[in-house]
Amino acid sequence: MGVKSSLVAVVFAAAAFHTMPALAEGDAANGEKVFRKCAACHAVEEGKNKVGPSLFNVVDSPVGHVEGYRYSKAMAAYGEGGAIWDMATLDAYLEAPRKAVKGTKMAFAGLRKPEERADVIAYLMQFKAAE
Ligand code: HEC
Repeated sequence: MGVKSSLVAVVFAAAAFHTMPALAEGDAANGEKVFRKCAACHAVEEGKNKVGPSLFNVVDSPVGHVEGYRYSKAMAAYGEGGAIWDMATLDAYLEAPRKAVKGTKMAFAGLRKPEERADVIAYLMQFKAAE
């Protein structure tokens, strides 16, 4: 491979890596503003439950990730098969909670704009447990 074609390959790989997530990468700073819609019921601090469970470390965690929080039967059932809150499941739940998880007790209409969902997920990704 010549220098030129390997450079092309590197650039291409970098571009592919950036577009790899199926959903657009969000803007965490804007997500913080979007989170105001969630903050009445959710905190991002570990162990701090309100009406809804703490959202600390929720991204990439199993559905129903807060031990001791009383989830609805619907949410428990949704998580039974080992479902994970990844980009796709979070996106669907935040768009239309009661459609994605029929019977969820999260009384929230949903975020209609895909950017708002991507942004708030990017915001939540910042609150991760240390590996
Ligand atoms: C009116 C209160 C309320 C609002 C507003 C609300 N939620 Fe929730 N949320 C809940 C409740 C209650 C649950 C538990 C649902 C269940 O058990 O069915 C929940 C569950 C969740 C879960 C699943 C957590 C887990 O541990 O499995 C996520 C993720 C979530 N909410 C994100 C959000 C985001 C992001 C927003 C803002 C865009 C939001 N919620 C707005 C009340 C709310």
